[in-house]
Amino acid sequence: MLGTLNLDNARSQRTEEDTKSTKCSISLRRSTKPNPVNKPTDIKSRLPDVGTSIFTVMSRMALEQGAINLSQGFPDFNVSKELISLIHRNMEEGHNQYAPMAGVPSLRRIISEVVGKSYHRKTDPETEITITAGGTEAIFSAIAALVGQGDEVIVFDPAYDSYDPSIRLNGGLPVHISLRPPAFAIDWDVVKARITPRTRMIMINTPHNPSGSVLSEQDLKTLEEIALKSMNELFLTRSPIKVC
Ligand SMILES: Cc1ncc(COP(=O)(O)O)c(C=O)c1O
Repeated sequence: MLGTLNLDNARSQRTEEDTKSTKCSISLRRSTKPNPVNKPTDIKSRLPDVGTSIFTVMSRMALEQGAINLSQGFPDFNVSKELISLIHRNMEEGHNQYAPMAGVPSLRRIISEVVGKSYHRKTDPETEITITAGGTEAIFSAIAALVGQGDEVIVFDPAYDSYDPSIRLNGGLPVHISLRPPAFAIDWDVVKARITPRTRMIMINTPHNPSGSVLSEQDLKTLEEIALKSMNELFLTRSPIKVC
C-alpha cells in the first residue's frame, strides 16, 4: 500500500526556490507515525440489505466450477484492430477532452439515424438522445430525474438488480410484479390492480433479460391504454439502447 500523503512533511521540504518556481512537487512517503486518517471509517450504507450483483455471483461460480458462463454477456472476442487504430488515431488527433454533457453531437446524430432505421422512430439528437456509460447509469439517471419521495415504480421480476436499489435510493417504492414461466408474459390485470395515484413509472424490459420474452403488439397497446388512462404523468422506461 502507498504511504499516506504527508502534507506537513511535503511542505517543510519545499525550498524557497520551489515556492518561487511555477512548478510544485509533492512527495509521497510512507508515514512512520500512526495516522488517524487510516482508522477504519464507519460508513453507514443507505441500503444495507443490498449485496453484490447476480452477475458477480454467477461469474465467480462459473469460474470456480469451470462452467460455461451463460450469465453475463461479455464479449468473448477481441476488439477489432480497426476500432483500436481508429481510437488511437482520434486520441493522437487530440480528441481526448471532456465531451458535452449529453455526448458528442456526431455520435448522437448517428444514434438517431440508427434508431430511425431500426425502430422507425424519429428522434431529435439535440433533445432526445443522451450518451451514458452503460445502461445502469442511464436507468439510474432516469429514475433520479423522475421519481420522488413516496412515488411508486412498477418493476417486473426477475429484474436487473440495479432497478430496485435505484428506486429506493431516490425515495421511491418499488412495486414488484412477478413474470411467471414458461411465458414470462405480463398479466395486465395484475398491473391495473397495482396502479395507484402514486404510480410514477413502469419499467419495461423487452426483450426481457433473463427470460428472453418479448412484448407483443397487444401488450404494447394495453400498456398505452393504461398509461393514457391512469395518469397524465406516467413515465415508461425501457432498457436503454446499448452501443457496444
Ligand atoms: C435488463 C438490463 N438492464 C440494464 C442493464 C445494465 O446495462 P449496463 O451493463 O450497460 O450497465 C442490463 C445489463 O445486462 C440488463 O440486462
